[in-house]
Amino acid sequence: MLLIRFFGGKGGVGKTTLAAAYALAQARRGLRTLVVSTDPAHSLGDALETSLSDRPRRVTGTLWAAEISGERQARRRIAEVLDDARHAVPREVLPAVERHLERAAESPGTVESALLDRLTEVVEEAGERWDTVIVDSAPTGHMVRLLSLPTLLTPWIEGLARHRRRARHADRLAAGLLGDPDDAADPLLERLQARRARLGRLRTRLGEDALVHLVLVPERLPLAETLRAADVLTGAGLPLGAVVVNRVASGDETGVLARRREQEELVLATVHERFGADAVVTVPLLPGALTGTAGLGEAAVWLGRL
Ligand SMILES: Nc1ncnc2c1ncn2[C@@H]1O[C@H](COP(=O)(O)OP(=O)(O)OP(=O)(O)O)[C@@H](O)[C@H]1O
Ligand SMILES: [Mg+2]
Repeated sequence: MLLIRFFGGKGGVGKTTLAAAYALAQARRGLRTLVVSTDPAHSLGDALETSLSDRPRRVTGTLWAAEISGERQARRRIAEVLDDARHAVPREVLPAVERHLERAAESPGTVESALLDRLTEVVEEAGERWDTVIVDSAPTGHMVRLLSLPTLLTPWIEGLARHRRRARHADRLAAGLLGDPDDAADPLLERLQARRARLGRLRTRLGEDALVHLVLVPERLPLAETLRAADVLTGAGLPLGAVVVNRVASGDETGVLARRREQEELVLATVHERFGADAVVTVPLLPGALTGTAGLGEAAVWLGRL
């Protein structure tokens, strides 16, 4: 079984560092591990001290990594649709269709759903090659939308496919009346159906094999965001993993830092109360640079319970 683990949370709380550290720890246990970043502002490569691209590359031992891009995937998909359109629409309207598709390629909805497509491909290929896929997500809002897209898009795609089938049916009837039955395959309908099937599989998979670890630092705003994200994820049927409180002070601070520590205690108490002590993992504020396998190893020590 492929284990899928997401690391989500507010900007800057340590998602990339902890996802990379956890991936390294899994690989060191002998699991064939792929860590992927879906954040458009990639920094996974920086954390691993290597350059990454859309195609997984080996970092060390059984650890592989990739940074996937919604924009690149969107451009690829728009090119496919354009190809379909060239066969399906009259030549005079083609420039208008092209302009429309170019604009669509840049819209956030297209980019996000394209990112989801790419993630689905990665997860589908992963079953053969890896034991675990770890996803370094963009900040919470983006991640939650991404994870709920399979649920949101499925009825939409079903609706589109239904219209398309009806239109095809009418075309065929008309063609038949004129003595020219057209039985050629409809690439658009096929694409929609393939996409719907893929999203359905992803949804099932995320419900069964995925866990979302929520990362926060012990401050009020990240806490508020974590509580909201937990509700939304649970509402979307996505299983919640651990809540990781990162950069926790050591307790021997003085002055301002000691007063901050009091605030941290309040946040930690709320987290424990809301999620239960078993679900909470704390990682201290660490002194090291936390990049490369040595630095990440320092953080990984704290993630044994994940
Ligand atoms: N436990 C820790 N102790 C000390 N520094 C840490 C710790 N965890 C993360 N950091 C540092 O905090 C900074 C932000 O971490 P990171 O980039 O992993 O956060 P992020 O949540 O992925 O941010 P973004 O939302 O921008 O993607 C980095 O410089 C990282 O090295
Ligand atoms: Mg990051």
